[in-house]
Amino acid sequence: MSSYQVFVTSVPPTAEDVISYRSLRLLALQTDQHCFSSMYTYECELAFSEETWRERLSSGNKAIIIARRADNDSNHGRVGGINGDWVGTVTMIAPEEVSDTGLPIAELPIAETHNIYAVFGMWVHPEHRGKGVGKRLLKEGIEWVKRRREGGLHGEKKTELTLALKGRRGNEAGVALYRSVGFEIVTVDDADSDTFWMTCTL
Ligand SMILES: CC(C)(COP(=O)(O)OP(=O)(O)OC[C@H]1O[C@@H](n2cnc3c(N)ncnc32)[C@H](O)[C@@H]1OP(=O)(O)O)[C@@H](O)C(=O)NCCC(=O)NCCS
Repeated sequence: MSSYQVFVTSVPPTAEDVISYRSLRLLALQTDQHCFSSMYTYECELAFSEETWRERLSSGNKAIIIARRADNDSNHGRVGGINGDWVGTVTMIAPEEVSDTGLPIAELPIAETHNIYAVFGMWVHPEHRGKGVGKRLLKEGIEWVKRRREGGLHGEKKTELTLALKGRRGNEAGVALYRSVGFEIVTVDDADSDTFWMTCTL
């Protein structure tokens, strides 16, 4: 039975981390593109330069969280890259950078007193699903957001904190995962009927 370690990647990233993150993210897009609402596609990210991947991992305004297998007893479910034991990821994006993601946060019915963090790119390798890895990734992300709040990184005008994500309809596993840590589906006046929003106020 596999065991896992969950951690936030270091900023700036190591050269090995850049290679491993690229492999993990490209595999996620290749395998489950239909689950993501992101404007980025596999073909689009495949063309990213090494510098673009490095920049993605170099911001202090987001946390890229990784789950890695802590055991090495078999080769199944390996991702490739230098750290082939990386098997899951999620990214938490702070309010300072949410607009760069292209996510139409303004659509959300959330008061202006809220700092809005986006949850982006949640993915667990198919051979490691159903073992609590996704939930651990999210909990680690939530802890990062709370640490940021405790560190006083938010302005005084915005006193509350909401996590938000946009998913594709029909993704029961995704909805169940987010519900399990307190997210709820919100109704949004959104022309795109193929997607849904979920939020969680901390
Ligand atoms: C969604 C995903 C990340 C879940 O990862 P996971 O590691 O299998 O999830 P976990 O094992 O941590 O499960 C977390 C909760 O979700 C529930 N869940 C997970 N998969 C489920 C499924 N297929 N059907 C119903 N519930 C499911 C679990 O029962 C658990 O609930 P509980 O803690 O109340 O028992 C994974 O299926 C995946 O990578 N899917 C493709 C990408 C994707 O959909 N990303 C989300 C975009 S919004």
